[in-house]
Order: sequence, then C-alpha cells, then structure tokens
Amino acid sequence: MHRRLLLEARMRDTVCMDTKTCQGLEVLYTRQQIVDRVAEMGAQITRDLNGEKLVMVGVLKGAAFFLADLSRAIQADATFDFVATSSYGKGQRTSGAVKLIKDLDESIEGKNVLLVEDILDTGLTLAYLRKLFLQQHPKTLRIATLLDKPSRRLEKIEADYVGFSIPNLFVIGYGMDYAERYRNLPDICLMTPDHPE
Ligand code: IMP
Ligand code: MG
Repeated sequence: MHRRLLLEARMRDTVCMDTKTCQGLEVLYTRQQIVDRVAEMGAQITRDLNGEKLVMVGVLKGAAFFLADLSRAIQADATFDFVATSSYGKGQRTSGAVKLIKDLDESIEGKNVLLVEDILDTGLTLAYLRKLFLQQHPKTLRIATLLDKPSRRLEKIEADYVGFSIPNLFVIGYGMDYAERYRNLPDICLMTPDHPE
C-alpha cells in the first residue's frame, strides 16, 4: 500500500522540486496538490453554506495551515475560533484520552460551525469535540479534515469534507508534526521509521 501510494504520487508529478524543503523525506502530496484539493473543498463548502455565515473552528496546532488556506477558498462571511486538545504525545502513538486544553472563545449556539482538523485518525479527538460542541446547540456542525485514515478508526465518526483518504501511514508537514517538529514543511511527507531523528 505504501509503495503503491508513492508510485501514484510520483505519477502525479510529486517529485520534490526543492530538495531543501523536503529534507530528504518522501513527499506524499505536494504543496500544489494540496492547493488544488483545498480549492475544491472550499468551493464545495461555499455551495453547501448557501450564503449563510460560518464559524470555522480549528484544532490547534496541526490544523492551523489548513484552516488558513481553506478559509481563503471559502466565499462566506466567516469568523475563526480555535480549540486545543491534549496532544498526541511525543511519538507516533496516541494515549487514548482526550482533554480540552483551550476552549472556544465565543459561543457557537445557533451558528453554522465547521470543525477543521488536520487528520481524522482514531476519531477520538473529533468524537470528543463533536459531543462537546453539540451541547452548545449550533445550527449546523460539519467537519472538514485534510487527511482521513479510515482504517485506524476507534470511534464511529466521519468527516463531511475529506481532502485525501490515506492508509495507515504516519505523515508530517503542512501543520502536522512528529514530536512537534516538521510542521513547517510545505508538502505532506511520509515519516518513515528509519528516518534519522
Ligand atoms: P485521533 O484522535 O486519533 O483521530 O487523532 C487526531 C490527531 O492525531 C490529529 O489531529 C493529529 O494531531 C494526530 N495524528 C494522527 N495521525 C497523525 C500523523 O500521521 N501525523 C501527525 N499527526 C497525526
Ligand atoms: Mg491535530
């Protein structure tokens, strides 16, 4: 699966043009592929909004770049808010427990809310946030995730908007980290177990 994805990525011309920004890592989705997909997602969200207002809620820190780009691809009267949950830990494994570290600044009651996340993995984070947000009675609550790893799901949850669906690979870049590093890579890269620390 890993090899097939990489092959597909290469066929879509994802060869890293600037070796410096790739830092020797294999690119899964280039910045251009991300731009194109985010534009499509923005257009779809704009259509679904039907001219109504939107509150975009980003999950810190991973979704910061995605929210910044997606928001500019959405044509709507939009505001931002951010929440933070307990981190994924220092490695590639989650502890399982989700804790809210930073709450919403504004009430979302009666509003159209778009929860914006980098990766939907086990679903623990988004299931927790969805339950929390629904207690505030938003008018609508939708989820946009840049990446989806459906094979890893522990909670029954799906996103309304998915950028790319991927197998069980650990990815970094475009906001996503490994032990807080690599978030500033412009492409989405593969973190291989043998990558030097
Ligand atoms: P979940 O609660 O298991 O769905 O995990 C969601 C969070 O885990 C995401 O917001 C990411 O911060 C983190 N995560 C899951 N998979 C990856 C990955 O491949 N790379 C980096 N972070 C990941
Ligand atoms: Mg995250």
